[in-house]
Amino acid sequence: MRRIVLIAAALLGGVVLAGCGAEGVASPLPKTVVGTTPTTPTTTFPIVPAFHKKGDPTKGKAIFVANCSSCHTLAAANATGTTGPNLDQLKPDFQAATAQVTNGGASMPPFKSSLSTQDIADVAAFVVTSTGGKAP
Ligand code: HEC
Repeated sequence: MRRIVLIAAALLGGVVLAGCGAEGVASPLPKTVVGTTPTTPTTTFPIVPAFHKKGDPTKGKAIFVANCSSCHTLAAANATGTTGPNLDQLKPDFQAATAQVTNGGASMPPFKSSLSTQDIADVAAFVVTSTGGKAP
């Protein structure tokens, strides 16, 4: 009797192990991509509340001078900061600019508690339109 229980346990163990193995095979990581990969880069910037506002670039300029010039270069604001990227060269879009100003970055502070949603839309619109982009 005891022997049968042992055999049954061994069989069960085998089944469980086989189950695990099968699971691993069922979901392999893709190594090759069949078909075409998207050519437009997928954005990493989230949609933030300011993205839904219409920004006023004229108001945004003063906000930029007061809050951003120390770290960024932007010809339209006579800004020559070098801590952050040169925005004339980076030319961020409205989604990137609103998200970056709202949430900050690795070493850029977030402005969501010091600037209003409208201020963020304004300063983002200023950055985008003064570097050749389109803002809503
Ligand atoms: C203390 C310095 C500092 C201040 C102040 C600052 N930034 Fe930045 N900014 C950075 C740094 C550093 C980066 C590089 C990315 C990071 O830190 O994650 C950056 C990145 C950016 C980016 C790039 C996002 C992208 O596309 O990669 C934008 C746009 C930007 N800042 C806009 C602004 C605006 C507008 C203001 C003012 C509201 C501002 N920054 C204030 C340091 C600063």
